[in-house]
This record gives sequence, structure tokens and C-alpha cells, in this order.
Amino acid sequence: LDATQEECMSSSLDAHLGSECGSDPIGRQVADTIRQLCAASIKLRNTIISGGVEARSGGGDTNAGGDVQKPLDIVADQMFLDAAKASAIAVYGSEEQDAAVMIDPAAPLALAIDPLDGSSNIDTNVSIGTIFSLLPVGEEHRSDPTSALLQPGNRQLAAGFFIYGPQLLLVLSVGKGTRVFLFSPSFGGFVEHIGSVAIPEETSEFATNAANYRHWDPQIRSYIDDCLAGEEGPRERNFNMRWIASMVADCYRIFVRGGIFLYLGDGRKGYTEGRLRLVYEANPVAFCVEQAGGAATDGSSRILDIVPRDLHARTPLVFGSKHEVDRVARYVADPS
Ligand code: AHG
Ligand code: MN
Ligand code: MN
Ligand code: MN
Repeated sequence: LDATQEECMSSSLDAHLGSECGSDPIGRQVADTIRQLCAASIKLRNTIISGGVEARSGGGDTNAGGDVQKPLDIVADQMFLDAAKASAIAVYGSEEQDAAVMIDPAAPLALAIDPLDGSSNIDTNVSIGTIFSLLPVGEEHRSDPTSALLQPGNRQLAAGFFIYGPQLLLVLSVGKGTRVFLFSPSFGGFVEHIGSVAIPEETSEFATNAANYRHWDPQIRSYIDDCLAGEEGPRERNFNMRWIASMVADCYRIFVRGGIFLYLGDGRKGYTEGRLRLVYEANPVAFCVEQAGGAATDGSSRILDIVPRDLHARTPLVFGSKHEVDRVARYVADPS
């Protein structure tokens, strides 16, 4: 091995998983599952960058959340279901499967997943991703392992997301901070890119779909109005806006330079609880955000304490720079 490869080996994801997931059976099975998810992500990356025919045909049905399934949604879901079957997974809960898929009822882990996040960006060559959450299957779940998917997010053992963009990145937390790994084609695996993510506590950049302004509650309009009022306004700062509409990409930008992401309930049919799904989008992102020193709420309460009603339940979602998330909560609480 030359020096570069030596360096890659020592900073590789494999080395990190070995040291941080623990040597107990559950820790080792979490590590092995993450390795399987990584292998699937590399397969999906290769499909995406090749524009493979499998990414262009199929789909067209509507998933449980009402989204029309793109071919790549289906291809990604199958790749990660196969990865789950090669891991210690009892049950697989996916945005693209109406019901949870039972795999091995005696296995110790439950996997919740958004196989392809940012589907509206698939045909536009914009970054998209995969979001995953690993939960324990306890004795209390043995009679019905699918119930393990409906635990609050504070029970997660590990969570993260892949970003298929100019780089293939893995953002990962196993409960000891949040790290970023970069897929290195020359090394053939993931190597550490950011050892410990720290989200700045303050920000002047918000991420929201401003086209929904007319549907928002007055308190959220007031918050965004104050952000847009410039230096003369109550915030005395000029705010910037970014909205990629792939949550994984908006989230990663916030990890790198701070910011606040808002997708709250609004007056549109089917959006009273916002758009994002609690179990396989908000919870894994909230886990990584908190482990990186940020905050994640439904506008007022901590995301990770919410008990999911069902696998596809939506939740209002605000996350990012801690002081800004707290500020939004004060606007939400102020009905004036
Ligand atoms: P998905 O593609 O998995 O259904 O999720 C898309 C989500 C999220 O990634 C993004 O932040 C949001 O939908 C964008 O919503 P709008 O299209 O309403 O802006
Ligand atoms: Mn979707
Ligand atoms: Mn999504
Ligand atoms: Mn999706």
C-alpha cells in the first residue's frame, strides 16, 4: 500500500465503524448494516451517473404519501431492500412501500428509509440522496416487529444520509457526534471528510419553499417577513435564501455553514402537517443535526421526542442553527 492508501485505510469509514459502533453484537450489526447501505449507495451512484436505462423506465404509481414514483425511486428502493436483506434487519420501512416489509423477525434492527430524497430533482442533475434510520427491535416489539419503526427518534442507534451530487457523501451519526465521509473512487470506499460537524449557532440564511407563503400561518409569515426586512428591520441583518428542494442537500449546506430549514404545516390539502415524513426523513436528519450541535423541532417541540402515529406520518420540520430554531419557536408561540 502506498502512503495515500495507508492514509485512506486509517481514515476509512471501516476504521471508524470498528471503533465507534462498539464490539458488542448490536454494535457490530449496526456497523455491518451501514457497510451494506454504503455498498448499495455506490451501486445507486453508478446508476445515477451512468443515466442507466433502469433509471428511466418504470414507476408511475403513487406511493402511500401520494407522491408519484419515479423510476429511480423504485430502483433505489430495491437496492436498499436487498441491502437490508443482507443485514441484521427484522423490518424495512420505506417511503416507497405502503406497508413495512418483514425480513427476519428474529433480527435485532429495524431500518427506516427514504431511498431517494429529492425526486423532483432527478431529471435536473441536481443533488439527490438517501436518508436512513436504524432502530433497535426490543423484546416489547417481538410480537410485532413493525412496531419498532414507530419508536420516537430518540431511540435511534444510528442515522444518516447519502448525497449523490458532485461528490458521493455519507453524513453519519452513531450517537457520538456527526461525521462526513467522502466516497473515493481511487480508494474504492468512503474516507473521512469532516471528523466532527459543528453547526454554527447563529445564521442569516433560511431555506424554505417561499412559493407556499400564501398558505402559511401568520406567525411563520411574520418570521420570514422579519428575515426579509433587511438591516432596517427587527433582525438588523440582511438574510439570504437557499432552497434546493432535496432536503439532504439543504441539510448538508446547513452542516457546512449554518442556516435554518423550515417546512411547516400549511393550508394546502394534505399539508396540514407539512411535507416531510417523521420516521424516515425528519428523525434521521434531526438525530444528525442534534449530534452536530444544532436543533430540530416541529416548530415548537423536539422532533426526536415525537411518537410516530404511523410509518408515513408527516411532521412540520424546522432544523439548523440552534439559536435560530429557538427564535422560530418564539414566533410560533406568539399568536399576536
Ligand atoms: P422526496 O423526494 O423523498 O419525496 O422528498 C422531497 C422532500 C424534501 O427532500 C424536500 O425538502 C421537499 O420535499 C421539497 O418540497 P417542495 O417540492 O414542496 O419544495
Ligand atoms: Mn417522494
Ligand atoms: Mn425525501
Ligand atoms: Mn423519497
